[in-house]
Amino acid sequence: MIDINDILAKNPVVPLVQSDDPAEAVAISRALAAGGLTVVEVVFRTDRALECLKAVADEVPEVIAGAGTVLTATQAQAAIDSGAKFIVSPGLDDDVVGVAKDNGVPIYPGIMTPSELQHAYNLGLDTVKFFPASIAGGVPALKALSSVFRSVRFMPTGGVSAANLSDFLAVPAVLACGGSWLTPKAAIDSENYDEITKLAAEALAIAHAARGE
Ligand code: 3PG
Repeated sequence: MIDINDILAKNPVVPLVQSDDPAEAVAISRALAAGGLTVVEVVFRTDRALECLKAVADEVPEVIAGAGTVLTATQAQAAIDSGAKFIVSPGLDDDVVGVAKDNGVPIYPGIMTPSELQHAYNLGLDTVKFFPASIAGGVPALKALSSVFRSVRFMPTGGVSAANLSDFLAVPAVLACGGSWLTPKAAIDSENYDEITKLAAEALAIAHAARGE
């Protein structure tokens, strides 16, 4: 299993790539990598998401591509078969976790309550997505959860932006933050990939400053 957590410790921002065009997903991913973000989450929210994931995995070796918005075990297996190096889900589903574990692929399931987190903990997971972070209590909720689940690392997503990224990353239990603010639809539609590179570089600079690097 590649150690994504090691990579995220140095590069703690995971941009979402949402597209229904594999060539476009490749262009977005290259733009993100040019800005220094090399772990990307291709989300299963379009009919051609699987093709987009495969294209990024095959054609953009400078990024580690995972699959996001994975809702079912079938989707998880298809994602892994298409090259996903990690799986992200909005919620916690035992079957999705099982497929990831059986394939030796890291899984970051979404949690927002102590009970969900305890369930994830008892499935043997040490890193979870905290979603939707901004309306699930934000930084204070993360601090409260991490004071109890002391060994768990969190990946907040949902409402994270350049404006609050450093607040989330200042929480020691936060491994990385994810989000769609790095890949705005307007920039994609106008093929303004320089804007995506700029947003990625800006996020990385904020992250390094927040981590005192
Ligand atoms: C996710 O799947 O992680 C969320 O949709 C990200 O939320 P955001 O669009 O608010 O960044």
